[in-house]
Amino acid sequence: MSDVLPNEAAETVVDIPSPRAAMDANAVKAAYRRWASVYDALFGSISTFGRKRAVEAVNALPGTRVLEVGVGTGLALPYYRADKRITGIDLSGDMLERARQRAARLHLSNVDALLEMDAEATGFEDGAFDIAVAMFVASVVPHPRALLAELKRVVRPGGHILFVNHFLAEGGVRLAVERGMARASHSLGWHPDFAIESLLPPADLRRAILQPVPPAGLFTLVTLDREADDCASPMVA
Ligand SMILES: C[S@@+](CC[C@H](N)C(=O)[O-])C[C@H]1O[C@@H](n2cnc3c(N)ncnc32)[C@H](O)[C@@H]1O
Repeated sequence: MSDVLPNEAAETVVDIPSPRAAMDANAVKAAYRRWASVYDALFGSISTFGRKRAVEAVNALPGTRVLEVGVGTGLALPYYRADKRITGIDLSGDMLERARQRAARLHLSNVDALLEMDAEATGFEDGAFDIAVAMFVASVVPHPRALLAELKRVVRPGGHILFVNHFLAEGGVRLAVERGMARASHSLGWHPDFAIESLLPPADLRRAILQPVPPAGLFTLVTLDREADDCASPMVA
């Protein structure tokens, strides 16, 4: 992992997520009802590299039971190795319908289930999965810390949790642009001003592996080991 960033920022982070406009489950569903038919064309290609990088990382990890949260239209589904058994969940029935069509069209026999379910409160048993992966989802869910807590609950101790996402820039023009764009969060369906601290408390941020992902490091792949003493109680941001 040559491009792993030393996670120096974690030392100075305080446990106060950046301000962000809340988007509840109904707002998420409404936004993705509008986006579903054009999502692949508009957002598919810019995020392809991040999706491929995340699934490559999943494929390289031990364990076969994989939960993909916020599976959307299923753009990542074809990249999983055949021996990984995939359960995909999403809040949006409209996005999920497209994932189901993709899985059927491509005969993806390792996709076990595509379920309409809230990633912050799933119906899965503790430790049901070896790996959970959330691609471009953390900045969309209403309560990112609740998402993290739920993934810690459903991933077995010793398993892995991965996120690939855009996180708020630390400065410069990009920071100003992202803060400006945040006003459009509800119509965009995601938060351009989403800071990594909104998702990871300081202890997790210290031990997470962060890898920049092209284009231009716009996205970051976060890999977190699910430790035996991980607290799985929700810490809502
Ligand atoms: C930006 S899209 C990403 C889709 C897909 N992961 C990809 O890489 O293209 C975000 C997805 O997260 C879903 N989502 C948002 N909040 C959710 C929640 N609480 N539980 C499950 N899915 C959620 C949305 O419905 C949407 O399909």
